[in-house]
Amino acid sequence: MKKVLVTGGAGFIGSHTCVELAAAGFEPIIVDDLRNSEERAIDGIARIVGRKPAVHRIDCCDEAAMERMFQGEGPIHGAIHFAADKAVGESVADPLKYYHNNIGSLVLLLRLMKKHEVNRIVFSSSCTVYGQPERLPVTETAPDRNAMSPYGFTKIACEQMLRDTTASDPPLKAVLLRYFNPVGAHPSALIGELPLGVPNNLVPFVTQTAAGLRKQLTVFGNDYDTPDGSCIRDYIHVVDLAKAHVRALQWMEDGPVSCDVFNIGTGKGNSVFEVINAFKEATSTPLPYVVGPRRAGDTTAVYADTTKSRDVLGWTPALTLNDALRDAWRWQLALKP
Ligand code: UD1
Repeated sequence: MKKVLVTGGAGFIGSHTCVELAAAGFEPIIVDDLRNSEERAIDGIARIVGRKPAVHRIDCCDEAAMERMFQGEGPIHGAIHFAADKAVGESVADPLKYYHNNIGSLVLLLRLMKKHEVNRIVFSSSCTVYGQPERLPVTETAPDRNAMSPYGFTKIACEQMLRDTTASDPPLKAVLLRYFNPVGAHPSALIGELPLGVPNNLVPFVTQTAAGLRKQLTVFGNDYDTPDGSCIRDYIHVVDLAKAHVRALQWMEDGPVSCDVFNIGTGKGNSVFEVINAFKEATSTPLPYVVGPRRAGDTTAVYADTTKSRDVLGWTPALTLNDALRDAWRWQLALKP
């Protein structure tokens, strides 16, 4: 079986990707020090795929440990690099943490990949690179808005690093996936999102509120220039997103392009109020909410043009927002003691 290194493989998107890699006949090798994830994610992967994946509990910035891991594993087919910090607000307060972890880990990974002749990488980028796009749906050719946050800037810097290294080192191929808003959980309810503390993101806050762990959801602003006044995002089911990574690896096996970038979203925008209504519809569960002020740094509306990911990568999402909310809710219920 072809080994695929999955940094951050115990995380939300990483764990779902390990499951889809195994289903497609690859062997995921997880590199994760569990700083933002839990052992139960690895147990969940093992239960879904029927065997425990290899796990290296190491920091992706620890050169000696990473070198030992590469030596010990032998030939590796490709790498998927999820390991990164992702809280926008924290990145403003502590930018060096983000520059070190997010950019430093990719520098080290690329050096070791070259040394050990690993020539394929899939990178987790984000629609945050677009800021508020001038035209919607946003295409991959829209300009970067790198000043949005240090977190956003690390994504732009890492994308550029991959363009530069693939240009200087021809055997290396890279696929940059710009995720829109990943939501949902595996339909088995064995893996899902495990937010630390109070969730920043909408869907975990929704499910925790419906479960009674939070008093109410606050809708961050109803005075945006959108049909119902709340912000619009493109919510993509994490299982569809995970499958995009497998597709990207396969595409690099025969794709002629050395580095390319794809939007990974549904192509459909939904407002916060639409998410609230869809949650109620999908789960028949009440959701108390109030309308509060805008959250600093939020953009009004972002959703993907998915033409390129469909026509060039050959990937299309199969699941709906209602599927994602139903699965997120089942996961929330499974988490209850
Ligand atoms: C956020 C980050 C983005 C990052 C992504 C990672 C910001 C500005 N953006 O995306 O860079 O890649 O997380 O997952 O932080 N909302 C509420 N109430 C809540 C929570 C959210 O109304 O309690 C609204 C927000 O205003 C937004 C939408 O729900 O309109 C989605 O918010 P969220 O899940 O935090 O994602 P983004 O802000 O789009």
